[in-house]
Amino acid sequence: MARKIIIDTDPGQDDAVAILLALASPELDLLGITCVAGNVPLEMTAKNARIICELANRPETRVFAGCDAPMSRKLVTAEHVHGKTGLDGITLPDPVMELQDQHAVDFLIETLRAEPEGTVTLVPIGPLTNIATAMERAPDIIPRIQEIVLMGGGCFEGGNITPAAEFNIYVDPEAAKLVFGAGVPLVVMPLDVTHKALTSRARVEAFRNAGRVGPAVASWTDFFERFDKEKYGSEGAPLHDPCTIAYLLQPELFTGRHINVEIETGSDLTLGMTVADWWRVSGRAPNATFMGGIDDDGFFTLLTERLARL
Ligand code: RIB
Ligand code: CA
Repeated sequence: MARKIIIDTDPGQDDAVAILLALASPELDLLGITCVAGNVPLEMTAKNARIICELANRPETRVFAGCDAPMSRKLVTAEHVHGKTGLDGITLPDPVMELQDQHAVDFLIETLRAEPEGTVTLVPIGPLTNIATAMERAPDIIPRIQEIVLMGGGCFEGGNITPAAEFNIYVDPEAAKLVFGAGVPLVVMPLDVTHKALTSRARVEAFRNAGRVGPAVASWTDFFERFDKEKYGSEGAPLHDPCTIAYLLQPELFTGRHINVEIETGSDLTLGMTVADWWRVSGRAPNATFMGGIDDDGFFTLLTERLARL
């Protein structure tokens, strides 16, 4: 029986690779893609999600538009990283497939109420606004969620949008606080892991030769890595979002700890910081499996093999 998932996303090149990995993996049953404002505004993320589905030849995938701004703050975007379109690096045709009429938050609520309890996993790879809004509007869905596997946060790696905060958490810290406090089984892929999932020339060339979608993926990672190589002086760029899908497929690629993680929402200096109690010194109850290690060769082998199937 394939695992039922909903990907909540703000495409972004790395989101695109995560979505393609999910679409290439029969172990996963993608019930829908819910889009949120993040890397670029909502209109673009909802368009980009459909571009990605059509690239994968999966125009039947249901794509929903969700929240166009954080719960209680102004939207912060990341065109400086992802380019104006959010999918800079290659120009693909505008989507023909339609956006679903239903709002993403209503889809999340309706689906979690309709599916048997504990059978749907949420995979947020952008700001957590849609997920938190659904939880706030319909608290009854919280115990019905099987697990949340998200990309966000950082511990020893600090932040990427501020010294203290990672982008997905920083954009909507109130949403993150609600999700991390909801009591749902939570797996977190922070910068501490994703900064070890670095592209390289050899890895990008392997992407380029990975079947029909390979050239697009290589062009995206070529574009995406220019910013991070400059910023971190690393050989390649971190492939953040696909770590969530890879975890669902091969959890043994990752190592981490079940610890307490709280979200800073009060301080301007450290807004959006994930205060991860890695050394368990706070006495606060664990609420997340916070990843710290990855078998990066295994990750890229899985990714390349699956992309070639599309
Ligand atoms: O900080 C990395 C995260 O922010 C990734 O999800 C990337 O797509 C951006 O949304
Ligand atoms: Ca993202």
